[in-house]
Amino acid sequence: METKKSASPSIITIATQKGGVGKTSLTVNLAEGFASLDKKVLVLDLDYQGDASDWFGAADAIEDSRRSTTWGLVKGKKIPDLRVSTNIPNVDVIGSDLSLNYAIQKYNGQQEQFNVVKRILECKEKDEYDIILIDTHPSLDPLLTSALNYSHYYLVPMFPEKHPFKGLEYLMRIVASVKSTQNPMLFFLGVVITKYKKKSKSHNDYLEVIKEHTRDSGIELIEPFIRDTDAMASAAGAQTPIGRYFSDLPVKSKDNADSDYKKLAENLLTHLKGRRMGRPQKVLDPARIKVMNEKARGDEFADSFGSFCF
Ligand SMILES: Nc1ncnc2c1ncn2[C@@H]1O[C@H](COP(=O)(O)OP(=O)(O)OP(=O)(O)O)[C@@H](O)[C@H]1O
Ligand SMILES: [Mg+2]
Repeated sequence: METKKSASPSIITIATQKGGVGKTSLTVNLAEGFASLDKKVLVLDLDYQGDASDWFGAADAIEDSRRSTTWGLVKGKKIPDLRVSTNIPNVDVIGSDLSLNYAIQKYNGQQEQFNVVKRILECKEKDEYDIILIDTHPSLDPLLTSALNYSHYYLVPMFPEKHPFKGLEYLMRIVASVKSTQNPMLFFLGVVITKYKKKSKSHNDYLEVIKEHTRDSGIELIEPFIRDTDAMASAAGAQTPIGRYFSDLPVKSKDNADSDYKKLAENLLTHLKGRRMGRPQKVLDPARIKVMNEKARGDEFADSFGSFCF
């Protein structure tokens, strides 16, 4: 399908310093959601676990790491040499594998490690895309800094369970440093709730706490919340974003994360339109998030943990 192309892409890093909260799922499924809205998308898998590459069925194409972020780092290769097309029309991926972890350590203390993303993305081919999504590892490493240094936006997935703000608190320490040095215009798009169990009392309790604290701190809580669904694991196993996974099945489920990601992609597009030309955004005080996290520790919900009612 011929897509209408905007002048330059919106670059969005998906990050939080908490593992397993749905960063990769959000990246892959949003990419498909944006593509279904006629946007051309590049996914940069900056996590050496390579989960996004794997989900797109692109892991095999990263032969000897020559088509991966590692080659970008060590050889200065850029988008045209590194991208791989996926089974989703209008979505390309630049993959990663474990070699990135070894490679980045070789540059310890050198500027290159904070510039990996710029080294890879800064070329005219970047402008072929409407949106570039960067999936990150949960650690606070130079790769994350390199992503934030070169992004317009960051988006934070949050799971409605104990210590929901912990990952955000750590992330904000890096964001504060990035904004004060390399990238003052970096913009916090907001928080996306992931793996939400609608009928779980504890999830709803935590959600109330998250709503209260995000509202008080001026953090955007972007709807819809992504519901927990068994089909996510199957879709990942089938190396297909969930929207595709369902469209390939005889019965289309209407009550699933599939439609959540699509709506989220639509909502985010309106956010992007409104914010890109906006004023610089004040950075959230990590100390304040630490307090939020303390308050949202959720000890009072601990008893309800064992009693999910599905
Ligand atoms: N909406 C959902 N419903 C059910 N399971 C989900 C959903 N989203 C993600 N998951 C599952 O949660 C697990 C963690 O998801 P994912 O890999 O996206 O997290 P992550 O934050 O990228 O993890 P890591 O920190 O290791 O990179 C996976 O098994 C995934 O299938
Ligand atoms: Mg991941």
